[in-house]
Amino acid sequence: MKRLLCILVLASVPALATAAEKPDWAFPVTDKAQPPVKVDGRTRTAPGSTLALTRAQVDDMFNAPDWFPDMHPPMPQIVAHGNKETTVRACGVCHLPTGTGHDESAYVAGLPAAYFIRQMADYKSGDRKGAGTMVAMAKVITDEEVRAAAEYFASVKPRPWIRVVETDTVPKTYIGPGNKRLAHPDSGNEPLGNRIIEIPEDEEIVLYRDPRSGFVAYVPTGSIAKGEALVTTGGGGKTIPCAICHGQTLNGLGEVPGIAGRHPNYIVRQLWSMQNGERIGNSAALMKAPVEKLSVDDMLAIAAFVASHAP
Ligand code: HEC
Ligand code: HEC
Repeated sequence: MKRLLCILVLASVPALATAAEKPDWAFPVTDKAQPPVKVDGRTRTAPGSTLALTRAQVDDMFNAPDWFPDMHPPMPQIVAHGNKETTVRACGVCHLPTGTGHDESAYVAGLPAAYFIRQMADYKSGDRKGAGTMVAMAKVITDEEVRAAAEYFASVKPRPWIRVVETDTVPKTYIGPGNKRLAHPDSGNEPLGNRIIEIPEDEEIVLYRDPRSGFVAYVPTGSIAKGEALVTTGGGGKTIPCAICHGQTLNGLGEVPGIAGRHPNYIVRQLWSMQNGERIGNSAALMKAPVEKLSVDDMLAIAAFVASHAP
């Protein structure tokens, strides 16, 4: 009887056409061995800003540094300061007040509020895994706080944030604190191989969470054209043209989120997670057919192409 049950359970598991191996380069985790980097104790200022902050102040999880209040609408409490009582951290610390985020987090500016609210519900229910911090916060954040954050980020105008560059060699990098990929201080180059390497355009600006400049994403030579074919035609049945659901400019359609101009490694993480059962649920089910047959190289090419478009 037990064996029969087992067979029945196995038979009911949907067969994945190509379960792609997890691309570790897209899921950065702080390296155990860190290069010797002197953390700067000075108080930084930025031209045109009234703020003066140390790195420690910038990394305070309950005070999102707001270098340029003119760059975004007024932030609600949860985005600017989080909620110390429930230990929900300020959304603006990781996602920035401009919603443009860093490679290891997510670009949330302009996401439809209904989509945003559903993601928080999916983190809470376990339908969406992959980001421990988001899952933990989703379990204790209130509905009102979720709504305030969702409405805020939906109202923030998306801005170009990532420059995609095709290349065969990249600066050597390491994964610093907070899962952040940075150029290795010993500099030097290495072959890119089949990866996307995304690093700050200006390391100081990014480390101080100043929203004036973003990232450069190095992608393998030829990947943008390969991605274009997959995204626009479906690549001869490999996937489904994305514009049908994500809109002609890939900037979203109704409750379907935009995918243009987002961090390419974030895109790879989502495609892989949706293919491999880490992101399920009623609405992610619509992504089942588009991701089912993709290899990691296909995901990389798609991400290179969509990231190179204006958000
Ligand atoms: C400590 C850093 C951190 C903080 C603080 C943080 N986030 Fe996140 N957020 C992340 C990471 C990491 C991801 C997931 C990236 C991934 O899946 O690859 C994410 C993803 C998300 C997403 C999914 C975006 C999408 O396009 O589907 C939403 C929505 C979100 N966060 C909302 C919030 C809200 C609301 C807050 C404040 C209450 C918040 N985040 C605070 C790190 C953070
Ligand atoms: C049949 C409709 C449909 C098609 C076709 C489709 N998508 Fe989606 N996609 C969705 C929906 C709906 C969501 C939101 C899922 C959710 O709510 O969790 C989504 C979510 C995503 C996300 C996650 C966005 C985020 O912010 O986390 C990515 C990345 C994505 N799609 C990429 C693609 C790409 C690339 C293609 C084409 C190769 C594509 N999609 C084709 C419906 C579609």
